Amino acid sequence: HREEEMEKQGWGLRKLVLVPCPFQGHINPMLQLGNLLHAIGFSITVAHTRFNFPNPDNHPDFTFLPIQDTLFDRDASSMDVTDVISCLNISCKAPLKNSLTQIMEREKEDHSHKLPCIIYDGSMYFAEAVAHELELPSIMLRTTSAATFLTYYSFPQLLREGYLPLQEAMSLALVPGLYPLRFKDLPIANFKNKNLDILLQQTTRTSDIRSSSAIICNTIDCLEQSSLARLQQQCKVPVFPIGPLHTIVPTASSGLLKDDRSCIEWLDKQTHNSVLYVSLGSIASMNKNELREMAKGLTNSRQPFLWVLRPGSLLPDDFNELIGERGLIVKWAPQKEVLAHKAIGGFWSHCGWNSTLESICAGVPMICQPCFGDQRVNARLLTHVWKVGLAMDSSLVSIEIEKAIRRLMLDVEGHELRRKIINLKEKIELCTQEGASFYNSLSELRKCILSC
Ligand code: UDX
Repeated sequence: HREEEMEKQGWGLRKLVLVPCPFQGHINPMLQLGNLLHAIGFSITVAHTRFNFPNPDNHPDFTFLPIQDTLFDRDASSMDVTDVISCLNISCKAPLKNSLTQIMEREKEDHSHKLPCIIYDGSMYFAEAVAHELELPSIMLRTTSAATFLTYYSFPQLLREGYLPLQEAMSLALVPGLYPLRFKDLPIANFKNKNLDILLQQTTRTSDIRSSSAIICNTIDCLEQSSLARLQQQCKVPVFPIGPLHTIVPTASSGLLKDDRSCIEWLDKQTHNSVLYVSLGSIASMNKNELREMAKGLTNSRQPFLWVLRPGSLLPDDFNELIGERGLIVKWAPQKEVLAHKAIGGFWSHCGWNSTLESICAGVPMICQPCFGDQRVNARLLTHVWKVGLAMDSSLVSIEIEKAIRRLMLDVEGHELRRKIINLKEKIELCTQEGASFYNSLSELRKCILSC
């Protein structure tokens, strides 16, 4: 009935082929976007690698199309993210092209069907090349902040003006034109062992629009108005802020690890706003010494804490003694539910873009501990633009950790951060109500998909 209604209203049914990048922080927003577009009448096929793919049983409305990649048969754990992305872009192009050609052959007979439109994660640029070769329309999804995407366009100029490679002495200086970012905040700054040319090639390739018709960003005007406006000036195609995606339609879990739900029962027993949630997302990791300092700082703060330590974390020998009774450790948490729990009073985070949006939308102030890539940009937005987070010193010393936790959870400063982040949450709620900016943007995107 809903589909008939949508047909009548001209929403049309077009097949969208989503090509997510196979990392948790990228899979989540792509599938959330899939749910949203399915809810307004599009049919969704997820073309996924065999490496790190979401459970199809959780998404009965979607069709899943496996594409062969060479990573599945290799141990990708020793490779860094940039190498994995390069490898996928080389190995997945031909298999995706074959699969799409077969789909198009099958549907040729049915003249009522429009050609599929490819929506690809910006890191999976091979999908755009495939779309171009098959003369299919394509749209890019950016899973990071608009501010991060904007930095990519500044690299050629920074290179010409001699700012790159980055110099240690300049790391705290502001980047011209990108206030309040410092050179150390640029998303290429923390890949120390990586060749600059390779990094720049990858950022150029992931930000190059080529034949795509539009860009979707998982963000919203009221968070990133000026970055979005500047991005629109940079890009030749429309930029649609469609976010925060996790708040729009209820989405089944797209987690690659199983949620440990025991933490919710544990949270139920804690007092209001008393627990610090600690998670560094799905990729970043700490060495034994850093974990020891974190454990000492957490325990000495005397605040209860819930800490996600993914399987494979190398713990110091005295870890259990350091943790004591106040903390609960889990391998993977139902993060959105955790952040929405009344016992949670703060989030010590690596500031991945999803975690950032999820914390803002739950009104939970943050301790910002960025590790690599876009995380420093997000941390800077949190601490210097929205002013809803505290910056944690990257040297990770227990006494400093303890102080930061107490500032966030107990001091007036923490109260003020909480007040501001709740304000921001409410602004987003207003902007995502029917008739507000989010729905205008979605309606424009819908028109764009139907016309491209
Ligand atoms: C990566 C990059 O690190 C990040 O900076 C970029 O913006 C996206 O890709 P990741 O490090 O995993 O992502 O961080 P983040 O963007 O925060 O995504 C993690 C996702 O996993 C979030 O949606 C979070 O809710 C979820 N998560 C994390 C859980 O569901 N349970 C957990 O225990 C931890």
